[in-house]
Amino acid sequence: MASIFRSDLLAGRVALVTGGGSGIGRGIAEAFVAHGARVGIVGRNAERLEGAAAAMGGSCLAAPADVRDPKAVEAALDAVTARFGPIDIVVNSAAGNFLAPAAALSPNGFRTVMDIDANGTFNVCRAAFDRSLRDRGGVVLNISATLHYAATPLQIHASAAKAAVDAITRTLAVEWGPLGVRVVGLAPGPIEGTEGMSRLSSDETRERVIAAIPLRRFGRIDEMAAAALFLVSEGASYVSGETLVADGAAWLGTSAQWMG
Ligand code: HXC
Ligand code: NAP
Repeated sequence: MASIFRSDLLAGRVALVTGGGSGIGRGIAEAFVAHGARVGIVGRNAERLEGAAAAMGGSCLAAPADVRDPKAVEAALDAVTARFGPIDIVVNSAAGNFLAPAAALSPNGFRTVMDIDANGTFNVCRAAFDRSLRDRGGVVLNISATLHYAATPLQIHASAAKAAVDAITRTLAVEWGPLGVRVVGLAPGPIEGTEGMSRLSSDETRERVIAAIPLRRFGRIDEMAAAALFLVSEGASYVSGETLVADGAAWLGTSAQWMG
């Protein structure tokens, strides 16, 4: 999909994208670079991260870190700041997920997903606030999901984690708004060609899942990147505390079953 945005939309801006080495986070990082930003990408797998950064050219820096480790997060932010300058835009896309019935999920399994998604998001927001957002303002974009809007079986850990992420989005929007920081969220539906989709669906369930989506298809990474570009841009300058659902009306669509 050709971008509808000006190619210099993010010129002069510095962004940090966790989970930027793959999937939706990588798509967002690529879109930011294509629109003029310099971008640091964070993940645990340094080799994959370096590969993604190299593909994006000199405007992208790999900054390996586990978002569960506040010190490692701080070091990653410092590395990006040293290379590109203070960070204006933070995207929290790092997450962990798998299918597991609550009755079979170990406490450590639950904790691990909470730790990556919720604590990780807080750690990154907190470190970016100290380093630049407090003094310069900026935008935080938290990648959420719709799992917890109703209830999603086999997803108690990820649902609880994304509910926490949404609470972080709203709370920080209120606390940091007076300092010129917008905090927004993006809740994708099922996005084709991602790790998340491959973990949560199969060839067997594919047609059934599509039939329950009012737009009758999965979403695409470039569509999530376009939504992210809008949310971090001046076009969304009065949007804060809100999470944009980009899911083809999927979470509303259970009634689609009645339509045949
Ligand atoms: C049950 C599992 C499990 C599984 C791990 N665990 N996988 N339990 N079913 N399939 C348990 C382990 O047994 C362990 O508990 C605990 O979780 C921690 O596992 P580790 O492997 O030690 O964790 P770690 O190495 O930190 O890896 C984290 C991870 C892993 C989440 C488990 O899958 C990961 O790194 N994922 C990152 C990529 C990813 O998940 N991408 C998808 C994001 S998509 P015990 O008790 O044994 O110690 C997404 C979609 C949302 O979020 C919505 C879509 C619609
Ligand atoms: P993905 O490619 O697996 O993205 C997750 C990223 O997070 C990976 O790059 C991973 O890199 C990184 N990560 C995981 N644990 C980390 C940790 N502890 N520290 C640092 N980085 C970590 O999956 P995706 O499907 O594109 O998901 C991206 C985001 O979209 C997630 O927030 C997910 O919840 C959300 N989402 C996805 C869908 C979907 O359909 N795919 C739907 C709704 C919401 P490393 O392994 O290198 O650490």
